[in-house]
Amino acid sequence: MSGNITFTIIKPFAVSNGHVGPILNKIHTAGFKISAMRMLWLTKGEAKIFYAVHKDRPFYMDLVEFMTSGPIVVAVLKKENAVEDFRKLIGSTDPEKADEGTIRKEFAESMRANAVHGSDSDKNANFEASFFFSGLQRF
Ligand code: CMP
Repeated sequence: MSGNITFTIIKPFAVSNGHVGPILNKIHTAGFKISAMRMLWLTKGEAKIFYAVHKDRPFYMDLVEFMTSGPIVVAVLKKENAVEDFRKLIGSTDPEKADEGTIRKEFAESMRANAVHGSDSDKNANFEASFFFSGLQRF
């Protein structure tokens, strides 16, 4: 059975280019409720742990560099079928392949600066949400 939460990051360039409001508006319009949200600046150590699943990929250190280049906004989003529906809303990881109307089509600059992250499974959504929000938080 699919869960009802997913986790997102609005990435550095999207934050510094003033896209937080428009992206949150699209998320809201698509029917997601924000259960938790905060703005922060990741340290290299935190980013390495968060993205450890990619540690053997060639883009790992570049990803860590980019994700620590400025403030990000992290949020837990609630909706039925949250993981799958949010991945449809954000579009393909590569913005050149993202469908019209998706968040990445509209706001991403490149594969590296692809505006937003979205969890790819219920298990990862729970891990990622717990990474940034305390166990006492109710989603
Ligand atoms: P995201 O889904 O947030 O998580 C991993 C990130 O790595 C991904 O978004 C991309 O921004 C980034 N990335 C950079 N290069 C690649 C690549 N070649 N394949 C997949 N992800 C990449």
